[in-house]
Amino acid sequence: MNAPGRFFALEGGEGVGKSTQLRLLAEALRARGIGVVTTREPGGTPGAEAIRAMVLDPAGDGWGPRAEALLFAAARADHVERLIRPALARGDWVLTDRYLDSSRAYQGGGSGLDDADILTLHRIGSGGLLPDRTVLLQLDPDEAARRLAERDRGHSDRIGGRDIAYHARVAAAFRHFAEADPHRFALIDASGAPDEVHTRVLAAVLER
Ligand code: TYD
Repeated sequence: MNAPGRFFALEGGEGVGKSTQLRLLAEALRARGIGVVTTREPGGTPGAEAIRAMVLDPAGDGWGPRAEALLFAAARADHVERLIRPALARGDWVLTDRYLDSSRAYQGGGSGLDDADILTLHRIGSGGLLPDRTVLLQLDPDEAARRLAERDRGHSDRIGGRDIAYHARVAAAFRHFAEADPHRFALIDASGAPDEVHTRVLAAVLER
């Protein structure tokens, strides 16, 4: 059997630059000869992408927090079973744009569900698989709002469009989880040019 791969998640609120950093990180690792699989949540497999469309662009009045948490957990279960675990078994490094801690921060911190319940859903759905390291990108809310306005030009999705208080709770929850588990999390300052942030992210990943 191949050496097992490594699993990294990029997390953070909207507009902190996760997608750009994921791309730069993948390029840097590939340049070192590492086999890299990049993916995202919700999504990453056909089934999980179908759930993504249902969650981010829902019919009618949208989902309540419990249904939403179950849908994210179901999408993650498919993603873990069909994409993440097989890639790790091949010895690839998996980089995902969002993972479990987004559910804990948005459906937990933002929408008020119990963290223990979200972790239970993760155990049932995905055997509790955790990243080797979770990189949390942190940015001043005004700067994040400015970057988002540039990116979305007023077309944010159902969750991204929730109010400032919701996103403040999400940010506080992310911070809290990171501080509670400094071994798994790397807290990264996401301000400055993409290259500067990339240097910090790469260092946090290569430490493992
Ligand atoms: P996406 O367009 O990927 O957002 P971003 O570019 O900000 O990462 O949309 C994902 C949205 O889904 C985002 O608002 C966060 C939310 N989300 C949850 O609420 N719970 C979750 O478990 C996940 C993975 C995402």
